[in-house]
Amino acid sequence: MPYTPDSELDLLFPTEYISDEVRSQLHPDLHLRPLASTDYRRGHLDILSVLTVVTDPGEEAWVAQFNAMRAAPRTYYGIVIVDKPSDRIVAVGCVFVERKFLRGLGSVGHIEDIAVDKNQQGRKLGLRIIQALTTISENSGCYKTILNCSDSNIPFYQKCGFERKENEMAKYA
Ligand code: ACO
Repeated sequence: MPYTPDSELDLLFPTEYISDEVRSQLHPDLHLRPLASTDYRRGHLDILSVLTVVTDPGEEAWVAQFNAMRAAPRTYYGIVIVDKPSDRIVAVGCVFVERKFLRGLGSVGHIEDIAVDKNQQGRKLGLRIIQALTTISENSGCYKTILNCSDSNIPFYQKCGFERKENEMAKYA
């Protein structure tokens, strides 16, 4: 299937939020853009399953979740890297902008759900996803950008310019 340009897609947020500098560093066969309402069909969940267990809710429920995210403006920034020749997604990530009462009504960017196709790992796609998300976070006025990760991913995030800070706590339902 041929590659679909951004102008023909129904995007989660405006494509102008994606850093041109980060885009220019990708191989010409790859394209970085906001998540689109038809990305269920481009293998979005297949790539997420590289990260963790994914239960396929079906396209209709996936699109309803996409629309719920878009209904909260300037909050959810899901991005993808698409392989142009196949029009399939090869990398995904998200930054969620949390508004606060402290720090002069500041905001914090939370990076979530980073995953790169197993066959494409080690080619700087993860780095480009993190750079693009951090740019969105900083351009949104966030005073910091944070994330949780496993010990084995610490070196990757250090290469992306992050440093270790405090601990993660979790309580599963
Ligand atoms: N240990 C040490 N160094 C690493 C690791 C690692 N696990 N992963 C990447 N690096 C290094 C690379 O060697 C590279 O270094 P260099 O600049 O010296 O060459 C640099 O980090 C950038 O690596 P990329 O090529 O951009 O990494 P990649 O595209 O493979 O993406 C990722 C990394 C996202 C961790 C990928 O391997 C992946 O999808 N893993 C499975 C899912 C996962 O763990 N996702 C992250 C969960 S945490 C979260 O979502 C907030």
